[in-house]
Amino acid sequence: MFEPTNHFNIVADDERADAAEKVTGRAKFTADHHIDNIAYGLFVCSTIAKGTITNLDSSNALQAPGVLDVIYYKNCPNIPGYNALTPDNKKNNFEWKGLKVLNDNIVRFYGQPIALVVADSFENALAAVKLVKAEYATEAFDTNFNEARLVESKTKLAGKYKRGNPKAYLNAPFFIEAEYNTPIEVHNPMEMHSSIAIWDGDDKLTLHDKSQGPKGTQSTIARTFGIPEKNVRVITEFVGGAFGNALRSWLHVPAACIAAKKLKRPVKVLLTRPQMFSLVGYRPQSWQKIGIGADKTGKLLGISHEAISNTSRYEDYREGITDASRFLYKCENVDTEYKLLPLDLSTPTWMRGPGETTGCFALESALDELSYQLKMDPIDLRIVNYTETHQENKLPWSANNVKDCYAAGKEKIGWKNRPKKPGSLKEKGWLVGYGMGGGIFGANKGSATVKAILKADGSLVLQSAVSDMGPGTTTAMGIIAAESLQMPTSRIKFMLGDSDLPPGPTQGGSGTTSTLGSAVKLICDTLKQVIKELGIQHFPAFKNLQITDLEVKNELLIDAKNQDSQISIVALLKLAGKPSIEITKESNGNNFQEIKYAFCSFSVHFVKILVHPKTGEMKLQKVITTGDAGKIISENTARSQMLGGVVGGIGMAFKEGLEINHATGEIANANFGEYLVPRHTDIPETDVWFVNKPDPFINSIGAKGIGEIAMIGFAAAVANAVYNATGKRVRDLPITPEKLGFSKT
Ligand code: MOS
Repeated sequence: MFEPTNHFNIVADDERADAAEKVTGRAKFTADHHIDNIAYGLFVCSTIAKGTITNLDSSNALQAPGVLDVIYYKNCPNIPGYNALTPDNKKNNFEWKGLKVLNDNIVRFYGQPIALVVADSFENALAAVKLVKAEYATEAFDTNFNEARLVESKTKLAGKYKRGNPKAYLNAPFFIEAEYNTPIEVHNPMEMHSSIAIWDGDDKLTLHDKSQGPKGTQSTIARTFGIPEKNVRVITEFVGGAFGNALRSWLHVPAACIAAKKLKRPVKVLLTRPQMFSLVGYRPQSWQKIGIGADKTGKLLGISHEAISNTSRYEDYREGITDASRFLYKCENVDTEYKLLPLDLSTPTWMRGPGETTGCFALESALDELSYQLKMDPIDLRIVNYTETHQENKLPWSANNVKDCYAAGKEKIGWKNRPKKPGSLKEKGWLVGYGMGGGIFGANKGSATVKAILKADGSLVLQSAVSDMGPGTTTAMGIIAAESLQMPTSRIKFMLGDSDLPPGPTQGGSGTTSTLGSAVKLICDTLKQVIKELGIQHFPAFKNLQITDLEVKNELLIDAKNQDSQISIVALLKLAGKPSIEITKESNGNNFQEIKYAFCSFSVHFVKILVHPKTGEMKLQKVITTGDAGKIISENTARSQMLGGVVGGIGMAFKEGLEINHATGEIANANFGEYLVPRHTDIPETDVWFVNKPDPFINSIGAKGIGEIAMIGFAAAVANAVYNATGKRVRDLPITPEKLGFSKT
């Protein structure tokens, strides 16, 4: 049976706790686990975009070496969650949200899994996939966002908002009106998704799965297979990157469970790299139109923001594309409208800064455009429209130090050198431009349970069923615990990645540090009290002291007024006859009905760009990214988060975009040769700067999230710099020399 091994030793105060495991290859990601007698499952995917399978011939595949089964709609076992609408299943809370893979003969997008080949080796499965032949009755399909969005009847309203007068910008003395487009972007982390299902009898399951939330996956799979949650153990020890793609269970997860159950042996289902482009969600394509108007002082008089983003035919995925326009800047007249456009594609999902990343590209570009009309510095324009209250819910910010970000970034990027007239500054033959763009993302504190085990040797183990997709959760939690207990981080281990541990949150929405960190602080503060009580009870010298007379420090219990009077915690445990202290505590989530503040994190990104006047080649020369996310717990990993956001932002600005062949519905660039991502040489000198002031209201540790704001607003900063350098405004991402008017040849 699997035993978790991720008892990280934190070796230096702010060193990444799992660094050694990851760089030495000791860290086992989901697919790395070897299980006795395991079989390998790979999907056969549709080669049409829409229609029905009229015949699926698996006979050749079944005769191929090592092939154990080909599972498809005709021989797929019945799954309770697939039939959730029967009265019994509903009552039992059985459910599977999403496409019921291997269950019917309907094809909903090109590349949809239509069968699972299971073989005794990965290679045999891969070879046999090609031998499965499907015949189809095809139907007309629609994958072309840019055409379909023009047909009103194809879209559906997903959200509408209004305060003050609609379209008020049209009456402002200065206004701009512009349309912005962003392509489909994919997460594609290094580690590809996989699931290993191991059934123990009919109703007990161990699942190794790449997941941002072991508890969420446990609940999903329990409901899908109609078994008690406690009978499902989900293990996600290490995650090799995720940006929202592992927030829900995709089709390969039930497929692994189905196959393992049918074959009565463990099955590992892996997605191939091309499948990563369509089977684990993506940032939807978007069209936006922004109208924004101001008086001559720059005061905003109206913001109108329309957006359309695509979803699939079988599920609605919506995100807050127009949200920031409603609350980030002071403005009395705001109207937004958001529509979904269902297409014959797979379902999109949350991706780093979902909603805001897309929305702030448009909003922060539009503000920049307006600043030129006003002949005003774009930073000054934002400062004029700074608001003390969240403009939608009217609550005061719990903390908002975005003005400090403006000041720091301005200084560090050398904003004073920014040309007022676009295209007017050259350095060594290159056009030079400066740009900035901001981001905002809601901050939250949910509930989490943490168990603390103070061992006989005085070291501390903390446990919670979360996963760490890369931000460095174990590191930050170690630091919070070390600060509470005044002990070195090297003596603290954080165990995660196993749903059998006390329930912790899904890692998403930039909420882990706030939520889990509060729970870690609570359990450590509680542990301190327990140690003090034990001292008063068992250590004669402390007999007449109160809890408040004692302090815990360097693994000692000390009389605060008489520091020489002390006992080591190891000795105290021995004295008290306790092999260890184990306590578990739940930290509650914030009740937003009771808390009269608006909680958000803020970022402002600054870039300096060089554009070659003859070729249109664009080179970022310097990036300054600044954040107001309350107290920074781990400077090292927080900085890494911001750097990662910059890299993602550079990809969004210059490189990324899924291309669909609308004649077939097939993704044309489902590979890293043609789906472009930043290379090392695309990443310039990058400085990260934090306000680093605790938010007094969000939680007990003063920290808010960083993951999303790291990316939100970055692409706009680049587009704004490109305009400043060249006088050419690019409103369609990615920004390429061709869009600046340079031809490829
Ligand atoms: Mo994030 S898009 O909540 O993983």
